Amino acid sequence: MPGLFSPIEIDGLNLKNRIVMPPMETNRATPEDGVSDWIIDHYVERARGGVGLIIIEHTFVMPNGRFSPHQLGLYKDDLVSGFRQLADAIHAEGVPCILQLNHAGSRTTTDAIGEQPVSASAVSLPTGGEVPRELSTVEILEIEHAFASAARRAKEAGFDGVEIHGAHGFLLNQFASPLTNKRNDEYGLDMAGRMRFPIEVIQEVRDTVGPEYTLLYRLGADDMIEGGITIEDGVEIARLIVNAGIKVVDVSGGLIGSRPPDMIPGQFVPQAARIKKAIDVPVITVGLITTGELADDIIRDGDADLVAIGRALLKDANWPKTAATDLGLE
Ligand SMILES: Cc1cc2nc3c(=O)[nH]c(=O)nc-3n(C[C@H](O)[C@H](O)[C@H](O)COP(=O)(O)O)c2cc1C
Repeated sequence: MPGLFSPIEIDGLNLKNRIVMPPMETNRATPEDGVSDWIIDHYVERARGGVGLIIIEHTFVMPNGRFSPHQLGLYKDDLVSGFRQLADAIHAEGVPCILQLNHAGSRTTTDAIGEQPVSASAVSLPTGGEVPRELSTVEILEIEHAFASAARRAKEAGFDGVEIHGAHGFLLNQFASPLTNKRNDEYGLDMAGRMRFPIEVIQEVRDTVGPEYTLLYRLGADDMIEGGITIEDGVEIARLIVNAGIKVVDVSGGLIGSRPPDMIPGQFVPQAARIKKAIDVPVITVGLITTGELADDIIRDGDADLVAIGRALLKDANWPKTAATDLGLE
């Protein structure tokens, strides 16, 4: 069986190992929402540290989809040049890079966007927050278009692919989850209806970037709250998104955020393993994976094709080298 340091090809991209830097917001964009020197240095350091793939932090696709004040945005063409510098700098280290695209929906605040946040329904997240305004069908189509335009810009900037953010209680997760989608129209009611918006986002992005471009989806495979998406739903959603054109499924969960309380090492490994059995594209797993031994076991056991190392990689940019040493490798 392959291990953590076995190379892998995913949708035409050659990765030197199975270690992924998952998207992690730095909140260090320029005042114009663009790429700063600090951000470039941050990712180049991790590329030099030996990761196989970098997924850049969530980047908002239209102004009312912003999550935080200094978040990256790619909602207009003027922003492309900064992103090109970022992609070029990472590529110079021989590492492929993906850009994560997001709309925060009701996980943002009126303070952050200057208007009432929007969502599938006028229902706040289970943890509270503001009561959002329900999106109209016309507005839903505008957001789909914004995802597609941002993906077009990411491709122009030289990224090897984009990841659509469908987890952690952001807008696509809000549509997919029965806890936050109470719509009675074609964008609600049942699984097919609740997934209609995320699927249309994927399809419009795919139509815009073409059949060869690499598309990942960060899948909220388990809301971890009673009445929300369960792993059985997660498996069904995984099948739907792969049918719609997703080439790599990045399995995560948690409707109220990416780091649920009482997180255990390898938190989303069981979900990834279930999903991996149901689909035939590569699967990424995540969740408090901090040692080379655990990461290597996950790959050798066939539970996932790639492992994402989040906070451990923020602490130690050379985590891959540390892990190799721990495993007794060069
Ligand atoms: C500071 C920070 C920012 C994050 N930002 C994002 C993000 O932009 N997009 C996303 O999908 N997940 C985000 N996450 C979640 C991580 O990608 C990852 O799933 C989570 O930290 C669990 O992995 P870990 O235990 O290895 O850190 C963030 C996590 C942290 C710690």
